[in-house]
Amino acid sequence: MTEKTKSGIPGLDEALHGGFPKGSVILISGGPGTGKSILMNQFLYMGATEFDEPGVLVSMEESLASTFRNMDQFGWKLEELMETGKLALVDASPMIQNERVVLKPEHPVLGREEFTMESLLSLIHREIRRIKAKRVAIDSISTLTLQHKDLFRIRHDLLNLVRSLRMSEATCLVAVESPTETSIGRFDVEGFLMDGVLMMKLMSQGNVRIRTIEIGKMRGTSHQMNPLLLIIGDKGLQISDLPPIQ
Ligand SMILES: Nc1ncnc2c1ncn2[C@@H]1O[C@H](COP(=O)(O)OP(=O)(O)OP(=O)(O)O)[C@@H](O)[C@H]1O
Ligand SMILES: [Mg+2]
Repeated sequence: MTEKTKSGIPGLDEALHGGFPKGSVILISGGPGTGKSILMNQFLYMGATEFDEPGVLVSMEESLASTFRNMDQFGWKLEELMETGKLALVDASPMIQNERVVLKPEHPVLGREEFTMESLLSLIHREIRRIKAKRVAIDSISTLTLQHKDLFRIRHDLLNLVRSLRMSEATCLVAVESPTETSIGRFDVEGFLMDGVLMMKLMSQGNVRIRTIEIGKMRGTSHQMNPLLLIIGDKGLQISDLPPIQ
């Protein structure tokens, strides 16, 4: 039996037949505003508060100050988790002087300068060891993949990332933007390299907009195949079956 890491997100563990396979690296793919960041922070927050599993948040695009603010509305006090060693942050977001809340890695300043995967990975591993993290969330790898023009270099970098994350034995979520509803990630290679893929979508049904989440693949476990309804409420994400189309 594969050991599982419970997401703690209502409805998602049931759909995953118990949770994410422990130690796997999962891609969270979706367009803007589909709920990727909320899902990743809920995974870390629930891990830290319900399952005694510390986590590392790697912020590559949104500033950490903005993430703190956005997650506060769900009652998730990320700063408190940091103080008790349940959460570590790696700030690799583009430099926003006034909003920066933690020290930057030595060189990498994404969006401004050349960025090395090695320095980012060594920093992530250092934080994993420091707080004995069992969960990692990287939000997101879109900018990272856009650093290279050729698909070979992108694939090479992503393979390094996935292999290195697997060695940590933490369960890792990696967000990526998908520019269209049918694509997985920016270059469609991201999904192949990961152990699992969740696709998040915003779509119109008549004159109502709904959010859905689909488990595209999940190595090492059976799972629900159909798209599921995703609702963002005042306690975060909640997942349930889609109502039948009238
Ligand atoms: N309290 C709330 N109640 C309901 N919906 C909310 C609430 N807070 C945020 N949202 C919705 O969640 C969306 C943002 O979710 P999130 O930041 O997780 O998206 P994302 O997929 O990470 O987007 P991006 O690609 O821009 O980073 C908002 O656009 C809004 O529609
Ligand atoms: Mg986001």
